[in-house]
Amino acid sequence: MPLNIIIGAQWGDEGKGRYTDLLAAEADVVARFSGGDNAGHTVTVKDEIFKLHLIPSGIIHDRAICLIGNGVVLNPAVLLREMDALAARGVDVSPAHLKISYNAHLITPAHIALDKASETQLGQGAIGTTQRGIGPAYTDKVAREGLRAGLFAAPEELAEALHQHIRAKNEVLQKIYNAPTLDETAVSAEYAAYAQRLAPHLVDGSVLLDDYLRDGRSVLAEGAQGTFLDIDHGTYPFVTSSSPTAGGALTGLGVGPKMVDRVIGVTKAFTSRVGSGPFPCQLGGEQAMRLRGTGSNPWDEYGTTTGRPRRVGWLDLVMLRHAARINSLTELALTKMDILSGLAEVPVCVAYEHRGQRLDHFPTSLESLSACTPIYETLPGWQEDISGARAWADLPQNAQAYIEFIAEAVRTPVSYASVGPGRAQFLQVAAG
Ligand code: GDP
Ligand code: IMO
Ligand code: MG
Repeated sequence: MPLNIIIGAQWGDEGKGRYTDLLAAEADVVARFSGGDNAGHTVTVKDEIFKLHLIPSGIIHDRAICLIGNGVVLNPAVLLREMDALAARGVDVSPAHLKISYNAHLITPAHIALDKASETQLGQGAIGTTQRGIGPAYTDKVAREGLRAGLFAAPEELAEALHQHIRAKNEVLQKIYNAPTLDETAVSAEYAAYAQRLAPHLVDGSVLLDDYLRDGRSVLAEGAQGTFLDIDHGTYPFVTSSSPTAGGALTGLGVGPKMVDRVIGVTKAFTSRVGSGPFPCQLGGEQAMRLRGTGSNPWDEYGTTTGRPRRVGWLDLVMLRHAARINSLTELALTKMDILSGLAEVPVCVAYEHRGQRLDHFPTSLESLSACTPIYETLPGWQEDISGARAWADLPQNAQAYIEFIAEAVRTPVSYASVGPGRAQFLQVAAG
């Protein structure tokens, strides 16, 4: 049995959590492979809402083992808070059910302080990060200065590494940013306590996954962020510091490409983005409000992790073609089709206009992208409330046509469409 990968096809928050929850029902292992607690994944089960930041969304089912892979940057304080909150709701987060790769990198208070200081210094030019220390933790990883989760099993080495780390970062905080420094003894004591609790969860993630895959069992890789936040393939520098794309799933878990079966690209039926950076289809005013919502529903477009209002726009098929190529998407999974109900017409961006020329590919440079304006095709809308649709035949013809148009334009079949946040509020698509 195979490795299936769930990828965000846009700028994150596409609804990966809900599809992970759906497919986790049939998986033996669910594994996060990149990012950290910058992610916020929502799973809605009846009237219960779970917001997961570090723990794979598969945890809600008691079935699969959940793994935090080596590609993740892990803040142990956040992880323990999340574990305690889930345990209080009856979810099993014991070492038998939740595993951490030895080689996942640790986020420390110094990383968070540096993230904040750097954003403050950038001022108007800030990335708009989640300020969770993600960039500085990955910077240390690449600089070969990072601290890895394996240190939880070696308390003395952990203490020594933390002392050195905090001393070094304090110099940068003080001399470069003129920011407050951290108390290395306090941080060390804090991390010693985390290590005691988390050491029993440590495993060699690659070996664990290999055992499962050789045994014919199924592994689901849960992406965080999205293709356009990828450090290589996104809107650099307005990206995150990891590879949330399919290639990142392999290095972030220690699995080879031959194991991969499905690569499912999750996309909203429109587009959203939090943080700074270009967004060709962004809408303002009334139209934006119509897609974003006012904040009165839990699914309205306000960040799961930061609460920031998300920027929104019509669906961008140039972006989806880019995502399909970068990730070898075998299929798309749509979310939030219900939000488009009631519109007379639904514009979709089919190409960009760039200095008088039509562009079918997402440009590689930010400068070109900033000079792009969307070319829209307008499809007829549908008026019916579709939140009760559970099968393809339940969708109005224009909603079916919208989905078929996407599949054809992206040259990628659409497998699922969701019509509300609830676990049952989705249907299998019979188009292609
Ligand atoms: P993720 O980070 O990709 O897992 O996505 P988030 O959880 O950050 O954001 C997706 C939001 O959309 C959450 O509030 C979900 O509950 C909500 N959502 C997902 N699918 C649907 C859907 O089909 N309809 C509606 N109305 N909301 C949805
Ligand atoms: P999920 O997994 C949406 C964005 C931030 C910022 C940029 C860099 O829920 O889809 P970082 O803190 O990573 O250095 O911030 O990336 N960002 C996300 N946007 N969803 C996410 O995660 C995100 N994770 C990071 O807003 O623009
Ligand atoms: Mg999210």
